[in-house]
Amino acid sequence: MATNVTKDGAAPDPGPDPAPDEDPVVQLRGVGKLYGNIRALEGIDLAVRPGRVTCVLGDNGAGKSTLIKIISGLHQHDEGEYLVDGKPVRLNTPRDALNLGIATVYQDLATVPLMPVWRNFFLGSELTRGPWPVRRLDIQRMKRITGEELSAMGIHLDNLEQPIGTLSGGQRQSVAIARAVHFGARVLILDEPTAALGVKQSGVVLKYIAAARERGLGVIFITHNPHHAYMVGDHFAVLRLGALELNAAREDVSLEELTNHMAGGTELAALKHELAQVRGVDVDELPEEVTAPSS
Ligand SMILES: Nc1ncnc2c1ncn2[C@@H]1O[C@H](COP(=O)(O)OP(=O)(O)O)[C@@H](O)[C@H]1O
Ligand SMILES: [Mg+2]
Repeated sequence: MATNVTKDGAAPDPGPDPAPDEDPVVQLRGVGKLYGNIRALEGIDLAVRPGRVTCVLGDNGAGKSTLIKIISGLHQHDEGEYLVDGKPVRLNTPRDALNLGIATVYQDLATVPLMPVWRNFFLGSELTRGPWPVRRLDIQRMKRITGEELSAMGIHLDNLEQPIGTLSGGQRQSVAIARAVHFGARVLILDEPTAALGVKQSGVVLKYIAAARERGLGVIFITHNPHHAYMVGDHFAVLRLGALELNAAREDVSLEELTNHMAGGTELAALKHELAQVRGVDVDELPEEVTAPSS
């Protein structure tokens, strides 16, 4: 994969990573979360470091969204500690998180499809020029910066005037990533950015995840595709039923192991779902060996 190859196309460096691990920007210690009396998360330890991609994997309902909602300030944790730059924090809104440089790109992306790319890039943070009361949008500057930031991430669009809704899903995700980088993100959270995309478009998004890492961001990449995770990941956390069942650096886990960790859960959940459609099969009465993941 491209991420292992240097810019001039030389062979990947076989030795240990030359850049030593920096201190985590974001760290969770024993974090737990309850919705009423439903336990969504328990005992979560996670460290997000600059220039590293931390993948969070897990089946539906495993707690992935809850985890990123806590990190992005949408929900608060009930147990454990959340630290930013080594200091315990309690974030009350996504704005608090953004002020600390923690930006989230959600699946629905919150773009205005009919507005031009450059307009979406600056949505809510428009640049203006001239003194009040004749202040107006600084369109030229916004276009120029949008173009520069996109090309700095290796994104080349022919026309920044085109409505963002005409871009492919992968391109829209990429613009959202470039936007977060421009507005000062140090940590970038991506909630299943490849879930709705085909192979080629997923490749586009993975490329920009790698580009964000190259620019020194700590990336949290949520996915339930172990192959996508393994292409860009430096660290892997697998959630099952709200707990971490794997929390390992890349050198300590192979793609096969990662896939096995995921497969038990996903395949059996799909099977269970299929079976539930068949009249006369009571899924809850099936023996443990059939419905329980075997890992
Ligand atoms: N707002 C909520 N209220 C009650 N339960 C919730 C809420 N959000 C999530 N849950 C429950 O918490 C668990 C984890 O959900 P979630 O974090 O959405 O998992 P994932 O994103 O991995 O699919 C699930 O059992 C889910 O039903
Ligand atoms: Mg989710």
